[in-house]
Formats: sequence, C-alpha cells, structure tokens
Amino acid sequence: MNTYASFYQRSIHERDAFWAEQAELIDWQVKPTQICDYSKPPFAHWFVDGTTNLCHNAVDRHVKDRADQAALIYVSTETGQEVTYSFAQLHDEVQRMAAILQSLGVKQGDRVLIYLPMIAEAAFAMLACVRIGAIHSVVFGGFASHSLATRIDDATPVLVISADAGSRGGKVVPYKPLLDEAITLSQHKPKAVLMVDRGLTPFTSVPGRDHDYAGLREQHMNAQVPCVWLDAAHPSYTLYTSGTTGKPKGVQRDTAGYTVALAASMQHIFEGQAGQVYFSTSDIGWVVGHSYIIYGPLIAGMATLMYEGLPTRPHGGVWWELVEKYKVTHMFSAPTAVRVLKKQDPALLSKYDISSLKALYLAGEPLDEPTAQWIAEGLGKPIIDNYWQTETGWPILTVANGVQTMASKFGSPGVPMYGFNVKLLDDNSGEELTGAQEKGVVVIEGPLPPGCLQTLWGDDERFVKTYWQSVPGKLVYSTFDWGVRDEDGYFYILGRTDDVINVAGHRLGTREIEESISSHPNVAEVAVVGVADALKGQAAMAFVVAKDASALVDSAARLKLEGEIMKLVDSQLGAVARPSRVLFLSLLPKTRSGKLLRRAIQAVCENRDPGDLTTIDDPTPLHQIKEQLA
Ligand code: PRX
Repeated sequence: MNTYASFYQRSIHERDAFWAEQAELIDWQVKPTQICDYSKPPFAHWFVDGTTNLCHNAVDRHVKDRADQAALIYVSTETGQEVTYSFAQLHDEVQRMAAILQSLGVKQGDRVLIYLPMIAEAAFAMLACVRIGAIHSVVFGGFASHSLATRIDDATPVLVISADAGSRGGKVVPYKPLLDEAITLSQHKPKAVLMVDRGLTPFTSVPGRDHDYAGLREQHMNAQVPCVWLDAAHPSYTLYTSGTTGKPKGVQRDTAGYTVALAASMQHIFEGQAGQVYFSTSDIGWVVGHSYIIYGPLIAGMATLMYEGLPTRPHGGVWWELVEKYKVTHMFSAPTAVRVLKKQDPALLSKYDISSLKALYLAGEPLDEPTAQWIAEGLGKPIIDNYWQTETGWPILTVANGVQTMASKFGSPGVPMYGFNVKLLDDNSGEELTGAQEKGVVVIEGPLPPGCLQTLWGDDERFVKTYWQSVPGKLVYSTFDWGVRDEDGYFYILGRTDDVINVAGHRLGTREIEESISSHPNVAEVAVVGVADALKGQAAMAFVVAKDASALVDSAARLKLEGEIMKLVDSQLGAVARPSRVLFLSLLPKTRSGKLLRRAIQAVCENRDPGDLTTIDDPTPLHQIKEQLA
C-alpha cells in the first residue's frame, strides 16, 4: 500500500527497519548493525556502531561522478562577486581550509566558532571542521559582542574564524571590532583567530593571535587532508538558540543521524536530485542555513546557491533573476521575506523565466493566507509550508513527503513527518488530546528521530529538564508551541508557550533582551513582549519603568532614553534583537502575587481584549500603554 499514512506508520512502528533503509542513502566507513539505542531515554543514540563523515557525504563522494558539476554557487549583490565552485574545486578549498585549521592547532573534538557573513569561506570552514571532526559553532553575523561573548564562553573554541566585515544594503557592517570586544568580555580566550580579509574595511590584527586566511591558503594550495571517520555519535556541530532563560542553549547534533536525516529529507520531502540547484535564502547563522544551504543539498549532490544581499537590491526581482540564470529547482525562504517582496511590483514575479523552479518552501514562522496566496499566484508554483525548530534540524510537519501528493491547507504546515511521533497534550493535566480542534502543547514522543539534537552542549541535565520534563510525569519532548489538529490530522501552530518570540523568522528570547535593557543605568524594571507585526510577524516591544522619572518629563527626553536603550541592545546583542519601540510606564502590570501579565500587555498592544484581569494589582500601566500607542 503506497500511502503516506503507511510510510509514516512504518517509521514509528518498525522504526529500526525504516531507518536502516534510510541509512543506505549515505556512505559509511563502517555500516551500523545497531540502528537505535534508546536504553537511556531521552538520550537517543542513532546508528550506534557505524562510522561516517559528514564532509565525505557532502563533498568527497560526489567528486567521482560529478567533479565538474556545480556544487557551490556564490552570489553577492553586495560586492558584485559571483563564483561557481565545482565539486572538485569545493573539495580543494575545503582541504585547504582543513589544513589551515590543523596548522592553527585544531584537533578532533575541538570547537571552532565561525562568525562570518555570507561568504563562500563560511561554507569551506563548516565543511573543513566536520571533515576533521572539529565541532563548529556558527554565530549569526547579526549578533553583537555580548551575544558572541556568551557563546565563546559556552563553546570554549580554540579558534574563531571571522572577517573584516559584512555588507547589508550597500553599507559595510564591521565584524572585527565586535569580535575583539567579545574576546575582551569573555572569560575564555581562543588561542587563534583566522581572518578573512574581504577588503571592505581596515581592521587591526592582534599579533600572535590573528592570522590571515589568504596568506595561509597560499601555503596550503595542494593540501590533502583526508576525512576522519567518526563514530556515529561524534558531535558535528553546536548551534545556539534562545529559550526561556537568558542563557542561550547550545543545540548539539551528532554525525551519522544528522547525515542520514538530511539525506532522507532531500529524498522524501524535497525530492532533490543530483545536478539540480537548491537556493535557500536563509543565513548560515540559523538552522535552515546549516541544513539547507550547506549540508542537505550537497549531500544530495545538488548545487547550493549561497546569496549575500537583500531580496530587493539591486531590484525587487533579483531572486527570480537568479532562478532564471542558475536554473534553480528548489527554493527555501521565510514568510517575512515574501511579505517584503509583496511591497514590490508584482510584475517582477513574472518577468523572469522561472520554469526550472519546482516549488518554494517556507518555514520559520506562521505563513499567513494572504502571503501564501500572493506568492502562489504570482509564481504559479507550489508553496510548501514546513514547521520545525533549531532543535530538530529538519521538518516536523509539512505536506511534501515523496510518497503521496497531499493538499495544502492554509494556516497549516501539514502532517507529522516520518519519524516524528507528534502528539498534543493538555497543558494542565498532561493528558493526550486526541479529538479534533482541541488546543494543546505540541510534543514529540521519544526517541526523537535521527538529526535532532543529541543534548545541549555540556549540559545533559539542562537538556532533560528543559525539553523533557515540562509535562509532569511524562517523558516527552516539548516543542514549546501550542497547536491544534483538525479532522484530517493536519496540525495548526498557534504560537509559543514560553517567552520565545519570532521576529522576521528570527528566534529571540525575551529574557535575553530584558537582561540587556536592565543594564541601562536608568532602567528599574523591564518587560519585553512580542507583538503582532504586519511585516515581521512579530516585533519586540519593551516596557520600561525608569529609575529617575525626570528623564521622562517630555517627549524629547523619552525619545532620548528610548534611543539610548535601543543603542544598548544593538551594541550588546545586535540589531536583530532591538525592540521596535520602548514605552515608559510608572509600573509594570503584575498580578497581586507579582507575576508579570505578559499576555495582557500583548493583548492591549494588539488591540484585543486582555481577558480576565481580576488578579491584576493595578491596571494603570495597561491604560498607559493604550494611551501611548494611541
Ligand atoms: O514557534 C515555531 C516557529 O519557529 C520556532 C522554531 O524556530 P527556530 O528554532 O528558529 O527554527 C526554525 C526552523 C525552520 C518554532 O518553535 N515556526 C517554525 N516554523 C514554523 C513556525 N511557526 C509556524 N509555522 C511554521 N512553518
């Protein structure tokens, strides 16, 4: 019976047989005989006794059959650079980079922090790390020194790879000063820094610590650095993401499970073939960049298009122009990007020959119906929503499955993907909700399928406590998303149950932003809340009680303090985390027992009924918010 339902059921009920088949999609040095060890839940150990290498599967194995085919197409509309690397050339560059890493003392198991803009060297660096068993940790370029320092202290890298600058909308964005400041702030001091000098802005080098990439590359032109065969569970990378507390979580991924999971997703979800071209518009600093700019497409032998620039520059049709030029077959983006394009001339959607394109995949935030409809009609291509998380590494819910065509329903990313035993639980009783239209917390029964997080870097206890013990008495993985399921088994995602917000598809922790704002000398108390935003999905708004109210005497004084607070967040966390507005209140709305009424603040900002306020200590601040917004 060739239905998706039977395919899915098999992945759950004949788990090991199912994943043993998927394991055939990749190359092994030693094939696993044991598929899954779940004897110590919630720690899942996939492909237990297998050994493999992620870089081998992404690069080396393709050199034999398609050395001259495109592997990495690099396009920067910021610098005008446009280079295509074949698999053979990528293989050479990755080996050069690997040799440089080794010359700087990087060994198997060492961490390498990558703080780079969207340049080809970032891809070389990631692949070179996993080639030699070094664990990379890419930090998004939009994060500033404080965020970077926290991650340096948690990952304790021996080496940081960075560049003089990025570029955004034609404006140079220096990276090096932020990195230097981060290393001053951090307790841990990396021994070496490898600098890619793009010639965008001058920078100062720290003698003995900083090394020039171009110079070292010259020395290693003929480098041959073989892939190191790694145990299945050897960490491939960590990627920091936000949670409820201010301290970012280092999501840790294994080697074999991740390689198999991506290979399987390329086959079943994306139906990608070697020789096709995948264009994901994300950034390597996010999980989509890891899975679907770098590893997934390359594992499948596809070319991946890596793009530095805005979707609207030099013109609003630049993405479609690239689809035409490079015959892109698969595109992956976020709803926010589509909403940005929606402000452009719709004629741009049909100006280029995009006949090569099979589908546009969207993820990272809720896809609203008008946006989905606009882009579906404009492109005349299937638009495929998919729901997942940094933690899972690949889609949990979607309709694309390679087995059976399933209709999309607006507002729903789709049904559970093979391997994910998704359930809804009542948040009070912890009981499973099986009826249609019942709202609950979206959870996944263990073991999580291959490719998901193994643990949190250096903190097994936090991994268990955070994700697996949020429902009393039940060991299930919580996504921290609310959801409902309809009569046909389609899920609808209704937003986070925790203090994580989603701004333009970027996941941010309100607690982190609050901590940053609290460090301003005139801030007594602060709450940061995600508020609905027509373009970005959500915007972060800050509500501040000032220590010295004289700073708030008139609107000029308030604007000045608001500006200072925004600047502070920019410099500590980065512009991605900057609140869209800062409102000043005489006190924060709390219950009589002192609990902040976040949902009431959010409701007032979104012009909704704040609901039951019988426990509120003093409603004045809610009136103040209303007045200031009016
Ligand atoms: O709240 C969900 C939302 O984004 C969160 C995960 O964000 P991140 O770790 O950055 O991973 C993004 C990977 C694509 C989820 O907990 N989210 C993600 N995709 C969707 C979504 N919400 C609604 N619809 C989606 N398709």
